[in-house]
Amino acid sequence: MLLRNTMLWLAGNDLVKRTIVRTPLSRALARRFVAGETREEALTAAQALNQGGASVSLDYLGENVHSAAEAEATTRTYRDLLHRIAEHGLNCNVSLKLTALGLDIQRELCVHNLRQVLNVARQTNSFVRIDMEGSDYTQVTLDLWEELFRDHGYQNVGIVLQSYLYRSAADTERAIELRARVRLCKGAYKEPPEIAYPNKVDVDRNFVALARRLLCAGNYPGLATHDPAIIAWTKRFVMEHGIDRSSFEFQMLYGVRRDLQRELIADGYHLRVYVPFGEAWYPYLMRRMAERPANLLFILRSLRHG
Ligand code: FDA
Repeated sequence: MLLRNTMLWLAGNDLVKRTIVRTPLSRALARRFVAGETREEALTAAQALNQGGASVSLDYLGENVHSAAEAEATTRTYRDLLHRIAEHGLNCNVSLKLTALGLDIQRELCVHNLRQVLNVARQTNSFVRIDMEGSDYTQVTLDLWEELFRDHGYQNVGIVLQSYLYRSAADTERAIELRARVRLCKGAYKEPPEIAYPNKVDVDRNFVALARRLLCAGNYPGLATHDPAIIAWTKRFVMEHGIDRSSFEFQMLYGVRRDLQRELIADGYHLRVYVPFGEAWYPYLMRRMAERPANLLFILRSLRHG
């Protein structure tokens, strides 16, 4: 827990970040979890994953941008990415963070940018997933999503709910009522016990409870986890309830549990791999280290042994 908190603290510390991103070691570390810094590298990774039987969601890294110009540049990158995905005929959609589109600067700016991305996604018959960030953003993210999805008819945008938050049970019911597409995950940020389950066992239990609701009543849910026990439970549950494998998907992160990813595909389940790319990989990498500090040791060891 102490190591997790330290990693999450490091994720937000600017001075540490500036030092760490310059070292070759951390760049090598990042390569395990990040497809590269350019669009070309991301598209190449997506193509390889498609060839292996997985679908993909591309995430252009960068969160909490501080200027409208940066938010607009990110918007342009996503629009271009969607065109290129279509040109290459990839089985691939995109994931984005609202703070990368300018939410911290001005809500209207963020809505304007998101609509531009959604319009290209509509033209190219693609889908946009709004990642869920820390709890300061939960309500505004859901409000903004619902405004576009329900009031403006953008059916090609989905949300993420986190099983560590107490509120997610109610948010799941709302999503089911609206026939929205939900990605369910456990949650990657540091949250206080007033709003989030402090114990992993409760987070896991809630994940199963919400997954059960989404599998029975949801609209093509994405179960985003590498947890072997939850994956085994899901396989049993869908079999016992006659739920078709094509009515949901598993989702996993690029570079994490590739063995499990291959196994699910071989068994005929839909699997989507979340592929981050871009230069701003530092906070993403720190969150992955916080989830499993053993990653750090594993990678340090493999680098030492070449
Ligand atoms: P958990 O942490 O319980 O670990 C179970 C097992 O999974 C471990 O024993 C290990 O084998 C394996 N594992 C897990 N993480 C690993 C890692 N980093 N490296 C190696 N092995 C690992 N969060 C969020 O707050 N907002 C979001 O929008 C998203 N989006 C998202 C998309 C996708 C596709 C995934 C898979 C995850 C997210 N997450 C997220 C992150 C999520 O909330 C969570 O932090 C991680 O997935 C880790 O939780 P697990 O359920 O995988 O397992």
